[in-house]
Amino acid sequence: MNLVVKVEPPKPPTPTYYEDISPIIYNHCTKCHRTGEIGPMPLSNISEVTAYGAMVKYVTGIKYMPPWKADPDYRHFLDENVLTDAEIQTIADWYDGGMPAGDPLNEAAMPNFPTGSVLGTPDVVVSMDQMYAHQGTNQDHYQVFVLDPGVTQVEEVKAIEFRAGNATICHHAVIGMDTTNQADALDAADPAYGYEMYGGFGFSPTEFAYQIWAPGQTPRFFPPGMSKKIYPNSKILLQMHYAPSPVLDYDSSHINLFFAQTAAPRYVQTVWMSQAHLTVPFQIPPDQVVSFKGSYTVPVDVSLLSIMPHAHLVGKSWLAYSVSSQGDTTQLIKIDDWDFNYQYRYAFQNLVKITAGSTVYVEATYDNTSSNPTNPNSPPQWVFFGDNTADEMFYCFFDYVPYQAGDENLQLSTEEGELTVPLTKIYPIFPNPANGNIKMGFSLAEGEKITLGIYDMSGKRIEIIEKNKFYPKGRSTIDYNVSGLASGTYFFGIRYRGQDFTEKFVVSQ
Ligand code: HEC
Repeated sequence: MNLVVKVEPPKPPTPTYYEDISPIIYNHCTKCHRTGEIGPMPLSNISEVTAYGAMVKYVTGIKYMPPWKADPDYRHFLDENVLTDAEIQTIADWYDGGMPAGDPLNEAAMPNFPTGSVLGTPDVVVSMDQMYAHQGTNQDHYQVFVLDPGVTQVEEVKAIEFRAGNATICHHAVIGMDTTNQADALDAADPAYGYEMYGGFGFSPTEFAYQIWAPGQTPRFFPPGMSKKIYPNSKILLQMHYAPSPVLDYDSSHINLFFAQTAAPRYVQTVWMSQAHLTVPFQIPPDQVVSFKGSYTVPVDVSLLSIMPHAHLVGKSWLAYSVSSQGDTTQLIKIDDWDFNYQYRYAFQNLVKITAGSTVYVEATYDNTSSNPTNPNSPPQWVFFGDNTADEMFYCFFDYVPYQAGDENLQLSTEEGELTVPLTKIYPIFPNPANGNIKMGFSLAEGEKITLGIYDMSGKRIEIIEKNKFYPKGRSTIDYNVSGLASGTYFFGIRYRGQDFTEKFVVSQ
């Protein structure tokens, strides 16, 4: 006879607000969901979050919130904001368990939300010179403003920072730069301030994706020595997406431009793949789901800074990758549920090298059936390329520079001119001059495997202290005994991704 004893695993305790939920909400939601920001309700304390508990469980469960469309399993980007499956489950368990509070002393700290410029003092502020009146009709609205930056000579632009005037209605901004003056006629034809245009600017400006802004994205400087350009007599085109509002509301936003003081030798160019890279005409029949795949073979080694796919409402998904002539694949981006409302310029965590001879593939799928809830036509119609809501686009923009050795270590940063590899700092060695035991401290911005060593004056590594050892994020200190070193000057060094970071010390025996 078999006696089967069923042992129930102990039930984990129900998560509580202060201990488990507050860190998730404050770090992933509150930057948009607080008073004066775009999120339709504030989520910044227990009563607000509890009041929307069911919705919070629902929108996180279906991964609608936070709105981050790029698949993090395919490629990570700067500003990535996604919840782990465990966090989503914690929210569900908390709600299902009756939303217990826990101990207020354990509430997570609210992140710092800067109010002014994140980057410093701009060289030029390009402002809307009027208030735009956004009607209280509960409709999305897309308005282009033609702004004069007043630039009289070619300037090298090392950062472009959008500042929302009225963050409760500014949903996203597409910023173009134009030297052709074609926007003036469109502006003149619209009696309102600016002109209405949905998916683009109504013509092809000099630069379509000069900058893109969406709430929660951090403005950044280009890596040292890199810039975009702005030309005399050029115009900044600011396309604002205003979110539906139940009341008449006003906005006057501005753009901060930061200029490089010394000529930046590397010009960040924006290129794009479009219908020109397809082998079939870009036209989408009604009641069909169709995919278009474009390809482009890169003639020289390049470093990619960012990628930005762009479609309208029939667009459903994106996949972009590159295959080198040796057959190696570099994954670029995957978006399974394209959403026109949440289009970002996705900045790579570090510049991505694409070798000469590689072919970049960009594939987009369009769902022109009536089961696509965002289909602008009912019943579905033929859809062609164009700027209007019911038109479509196939664009994938890339910011790039010609490749140079070491680019893989570079990234866009809020700190000007700094190489923001995850090594933040090496602390001064103590005691110095040294004999016997010394302490060497360093701080990593991310947990990393690094190699620690001692170098002599000529830069030669004379001893490896640790090889490829994982150190956690934050400050670490190691002890080292210098009695084996002759009197003289040395460097404590950290090798990270092929680059060395050093701190000098003197041994006096
Ligand atoms: C980048 C800004 C942003 C972030 C981050 C963000 N939201 Fe939102 N949220 C919005 C906007 C904008 C809307 C309204 C438009 C929409 O529904 O897409 C919204 C809508 C909502 C709604 C209402 C949905 C509805 O159908 O009315 C809920 C609930 C919500 N968010 C919860 C969250 C939670 C929970 C998080 C964090 C896990 C979060 N949001 C993160 C911008 C954001």
